[in-house]
Amino acid sequence: MGGAAGAGSGSLVRMDDAPRPRPDATPTAAGGTSGGQAAGARESGARASAARAADANDPDAREVGVGPWEGPWPEGEHWDPELLRDGDLRNVVDRYRYWRHEAIVADLDTRRHGFHVAIENWQHDFNIGTVVRTANAFLAAEVHIIGRRRWNRRGAMVTDRYQHVRHHATVEEFVAWAKEEGLPVLGVDLFPESVPLETYDLPRECVMVFGQEGPGLSEQMRAAAEATLSIAQFGSTRSINAGTAAGIAMHDWIRQHAQLE
Ligand SMILES: C[S@@+](CC[C@H](N)C(=O)[O-])C[C@H]1O[C@@H](n2cnc3c(N)ncnc32)[C@H](O)[C@@H]1O
Repeated sequence: MGGAAGAGSGSLVRMDDAPRPRPDATPTAAGGTSGGQAAGARESGARASAARAADANDPDAREVGVGPWEGPWPEGEHWDPELLRDGDLRNVVDRYRYWRHEAIVADLDTRRHGFHVAIENWQHDFNIGTVVRTANAFLAAEVHIIGRRRWNRRGAMVTDRYQHVRHHATVEEFVAWAKEEGLPVLGVDLFPESVPLETYDLPRECVMVFGQEGPGLSEQMRAAAEATLSIAQFGSTRSINAGTAAGIAMHDWIRQHAQLE
C-alpha cells in the first residue's frame, strides 16, 4: 500500500466543495416512491431531470443511478439515510450504492495502490481532470498537482471527491516530499534518454510525473527524476495527449502489480 492521505509535506486538498449529484426519485434499478416521500422525491426528480437536460451533450451525465431503497432499511454506519430515502444517482460502482461519501473514501483508503501520479500545472493544464478521474479508477494513492493550485475540474466528473489531491507549489517542494516518502520520481516524457515504458519494471511504490501540453515535462523535473520513461509511438504526431499518456502509464502499473479479482 502506498502512503495515503496525511503523510509528509505539501498540502492535502480534499475537494469536498464539488457539487453533490441530486438524488432522483425515478428508479432505474430499485424501488419507487411511497407515501409522504413522494412529493419531495418528485421535486428532486424534476431538478435532476433539468440538470440532465442541461448536460444533454455530455455522455457521462446520463442517468446511472438507483431509486429509493425498497423495503426495510439496512443497518450500518456507512449507509446514507438521504440516499436510501431519495435514491442514489452518483457515478459510483454498485458496491458503493447508498454509502455515505466519507465511508466510500475510508473504504478506498484501506486498499489504495502503491503508485502516485503527478502533473505539472504551470499554465492551467486542461488534462488534470482526466488524470484525476483515471487515478480514481485505478485507485492511485494520491494525485499531485505541481505549480498552480487551481485546475479545471470539469474532466474529473466529481471523481476528485474520492481522491486525495495534494498540491506542491514548486518542483523542489514536490521532490522533497517524494524523498521524504521514499518514493522514486519517474518522469514520463519523450526525451532521448527515456527508457521505453513497455520494457520498464515499474516499482510497486513510485510517483509518475507528467508534463503539460506545449512545454512537456520541465527541465527541473527531468533532472530530478530517477528515470524518464517514454511511450512508444508509431505515427506522425510528436506526442500524445498528457491525459492519455497518464492513463497508459497508470495501466502499465496495474498490469504489473494489481491484484485482479
Ligand atoms: C503533449 S506532451 C508535450 C509536448 C511535447 N513536449 C512535444 O514536444 O510535442 C504533454 C505530456 O504528455 C506526456 N506524453 C505525451 N506523449 C508521450 C509519450 N509518447 N511518451 C511519454 N509521455 C508522453 C508527457 O508527460 C508530456 O510532458
